[in-house]
Amino acid sequence: MTLLQVRVAARRQEAQDICSFDLVAAGAAALPGFSPGAHVDVHVPGGLVRQYSLWNDPTEQGIYRIGVLKEPNGRGGSRAMHEAVEIGTLLQVSAPRNQFALNESAGSSLLLAGGIGITPILCMAQALARRERAFSLHYCTRSRDRAAFLERLYAADLAGSVHLHFDDGPASQRLDIDALLQRQDPATHLYVCGPKGFMDAVLDAAKKSGWPDDRVHYEFFRADPVHLEGDAPFEVRLARSGRIVAIPADRTVTQALAEAGVDVPTSCEQGICGTCVTPVLEGTPDHRDSYLMPDEHAANDCFTPCCSRSRSPLLVLDL
Ligand code: FES
Repeated sequence: MTLLQVRVAARRQEAQDICSFDLVAAGAAALPGFSPGAHVDVHVPGGLVRQYSLWNDPTEQGIYRIGVLKEPNGRGGSRAMHEAVEIGTLLQVSAPRNQFALNESAGSSLLLAGGIGITPILCMAQALARRERAFSLHYCTRSRDRAAFLERLYAADLAGSVHLHFDDGPASQRLDIDALLQRQDPATHLYVCGPKGFMDAVLDAAKKSGWPDDRVHYEFFRADPVHLEGDAPFEVRLARSGRIVAIPADRTVTQALAEAGVDVPTSCEQGICGTCVTPVLEGTPDHRDSYLMPDEHAANDCFTPCCSRSRSPLLVLDL
């Protein structure tokens, strides 16, 4: 994948533990455009690769604005961004990719953000406002101190559609997810991004209220850590060479393949980014990712070897 060289043109403290970084081209080549919901893979100092959604309006050309929550118990990517990236730092990023696309012609849109999940949601809100589409945005955080981008959210084009909810505020302003989802127009599309507990609550409520899958759009930015306890070993056969690699109970498929000298590109290693998706020719994967859609899981013709395993004793991979 071609990497873009960018320079940090600005860095701002947006809220407690949240910094935003404005990235511009470091060379003469212009940055490619992007669509609402897109993210870039950022190669952060120290060698990790992390996905960050772009929160600026896609019509703003030549700049990628990202927001990063410092996670003290994370694996080091956000800490490196907060501690080692300053104005002028040069970074490499992927071209924007979009796995959380906005239907800009929908009759109305309901945008739900929890915590740092506001980044793609803010991008979508600006696109919808510019196109004068009906939408409402609900942003839930633990406290006002932790709510980022308030200045942008309070700007005239968005303020009338934005609702803030703070966990430490009065009960009357907390978000009643069930009630909100039940009173929506049937043509509304739902977009949700945030921590896993928030996502699960919204997606469960959508299911209970009968929202069809094609009107529910979501993006996980962090998954549960990959747990291998209690897993069984199996084998994979690499179709192109015929080689068989044993996958022990305590190794992911990508780890076991790497130890056997077979590299599969990875990024998040949590089943959320799609970098490692690999075609499956035979066997039944045990899907554990949050990236593939339910119909893709059901088709069983590809899987994410960074976290998924096998229900059959052998998986044949197109590698
Ligand atoms: S590396 Fe991100 S889904 Fe596997």
